[in-house]
Amino acid sequence: MNNLVLYRKYRPMNFSEFIGQEHIVKTLTNALRSNQTSHAYILSGPRGTGKTTIARVLAKAINCANRKQGEFEPCNKCSSCLEINEGRALDLVEIDAASNRGIDEIRELKERIRFTPVKSKYKVFIIDEAHQLTKEAANALLKTLEEPPSHAVFILATTEIHKMIPTIISRCQRFDFKKFGLEDLIKQLKFVSQQEKIKIDSEAIEVIAFNSEGSLRDAISLLDECVIFSGSLGDEKIGKQDIENLLGLVDTTIIVKFVDLLFEKKEKEALNFIDNMIEKGFDLDDFSKKTVEYLRKAMILKINPELKKSFLIGMGDEDIEKLKKQISGLTIEEIKKIVYILIDASKEMRYSSFYQLPLELAVVEICDKN
Ligand SMILES: Nc1ncnc2c1ncn2[C@@H]1O[C@H](COP(=O)(O)OP(=O)(O)OP(=O)(O)O)[C@@H](O)[C@H]1O
Ligand SMILES: [Mg+2]
Ligand SMILES: [Zn+2]
Repeated sequence: MNNLVLYRKYRPMNFSEFIGQEHIVKTLTNALRSNQTSHAYILSGPRGTGKTTIARVLAKAINCANRKQGEFEPCNKCSSCLEINEGRALDLVEIDAASNRGIDEIRELKERIRFTPVKSKYKVFIIDEAHQLTKEAANALLKTLEEPPSHAVFILATTEIHKMIPTIISRCQRFDFKKFGLEDLIKQLKFVSQQEKIKIDSEAIEVIAFNSEGSLRDAISLLDECVIFSGSLGDEKIGKQDIENLLGLVDTTIIVKFVDLLFEKKEKEALNFIDNMIEKGFDLDDFSKKTVEYLRKAMILKINPELKKSFLIGMGDEDIEKLKKQISGLTIEEIKKIVYILIDASKEMRYSSFYQLPLELAVVEICDKN
């Protein structure tokens, strides 16, 4: 079991293990309970939010030999469930449209659709990354969706629904998956690290959650990388700084120093600081983004010093105390102005051919004593 990548190991096997996306789970389980499942679904949404997972659970439930009237969970014990879990079910066809895009594959698919299921009630087709089908293939699929054989169920999944032809979408029952919020990510990361006995402190987990862009797979994969990394750590816990190094992130102490210079309007030193960052090979994009994020926290903390911890994700008590001290001499207007200037600089950096110039101009403007 140990050489299984973590995100696979923690792939939900039934609806009750599934996290979030409540509206989707509710609609699907209700349909299963009342035997009113549809012949075509389209699951759309960001990466790592559970589309493939739900597609497989649904396929299992539809064909489960032990599922009784009024129930929705697959048993994970009958031969159909087991075969799907082991990836060898004849009545579940999974097609990755990213690598099988052509008309030939769809023609073959159409052939396969005509055959009745080998042993289960339905033949289920999961078409992943469905937006990648070629035009011809998509049209062939559309024809099938217009008159699906009664023994077939199609589950399309896509991260880019706007690239799908509307006539396909309108033939399917559509579910939109949402990105995970930080709290859900943190909860699951804590659960997995406890199960796996990974020694990691909670600030480090927050940094991982913060950098996974709402994808639970990315979050768990990052944790996986940490396990490999922690081999060299001996008995020590994995800390925030370890993660930042691992991810090549600019560490927060650097941001704190830079913000000190800005708040104290030390123009010369701040410009030197940027120059130093470049010399040391730091990513200025990441640096300015982090600075903006840090100042956002400064602003919110200024408005409400009793802020909920969830706003201050990635910060320990010491960091929060330090930030409180930093903003004590400033007004909310002053902080706001700095945030605006830096947001503009961040945006401009992306297009400017003078890479560090927008950031330098921002420093000059912020430190302007008038
Ligand atoms: N809703 C969820 N509940 C529990 N675990 C989840 C959920 N969503 C994702 N995961 C975790 O992330 C992994 C990947 O999820 P999945 O393959 O279902 O994502 P996806 O939406 O199909 O992503 P992609 O668009 O990249 O194919 C799962 O194996 C599981 O560990
Ligand atoms: Mg998927
Ligand atoms: Zn079963």
